[in-house]
Amino acid sequence: MTDTADTCQNHNDEPQGKTPEESAVIMTHQVLPSDANPAGNVHGGVILKHIDTAAGVVAMRHVRGWAVTASIDRMDFLKPVYVGELVTIKASLNLVGRTSMEVGVRVEAENLLTGEVRHTNSAYLTFVALDGLGCPRPAPPLLIKGDVAERRHRQALRRRELRRQAIAEERAGDQTRA
Ligand SMILES: CC(C)(COP(=O)(O)OP(=O)(O)OC[C@H]1O[C@@H](n2cnc3c(N)ncnc32)[C@H](O)[C@@H]1OP(=O)(O)O)[C@@H](O)C(=O)NCCC(=O)NCCS
Repeated sequence: MTDTADTCQNHNDEPQGKTPEESAVIMTHQVLPSDANPAGNVHGGVILKHIDTAAGVVAMRHVRGWAVTASIDRMDFLKPVYVGELVTIKASLNLVGRTSMEVGVRVEAENLLTGEVRHTNSAYLTFVALDGLGCPRPAPPLLIKGDVAERRHRQALRRRELRRQAIAEERAGDQTRA
């Protein structure tokens, strides 16, 4: 991570809150042979790109400005995705901090011939809102209403804590080695 503290100005504006529904997206993509290995399985990196794109759209919609990927949590490939299938990526905000946002993404693959739908991936990404100078800027607060949003928010708070601990431990390890 860069140290932006010296060069970035303070943002004291208080943007208005928004609900997760206002920025949520559902994106679809039909898998082509160029997305897959010779056995017809889609490359993990192709799926990751779609996940990152959908999550980035959510973050930009929420802030109505630039946002960059700060981190992607562990990602499991639960089931394979094959050429010809329709991939649906559902992405929405779980948590907004000061400048950072956690986006939850669920990926499903649909066999267009049989109609079978499989849950193939879930991922959590953190984006940071940026101003015109590339400095972190405050994101609108997330208005959380309803059981689903509350559960996702609670779980996201736990993940953020674990992420922060991991970053702190890594930095402490770097200093010990230096
Ligand atoms: C992401 C980035 C802007 C953060 O800059 P920084 O100097 O660490 O900023 P700060 O220390 O002020 O932290 C800003 C926010 O990001 C969060 N953050 C920083 N690093 C993070 C990480 N690795 N994972 C999750 N969140 C992180 C902080 O917790 C803070 O959140 P908050 O404001 O909600 O409390 C900077 O590291 C960057 O530009 N990285 C490259 C991004 C990129 O190129 N992505 C790929 C292409 S989009």
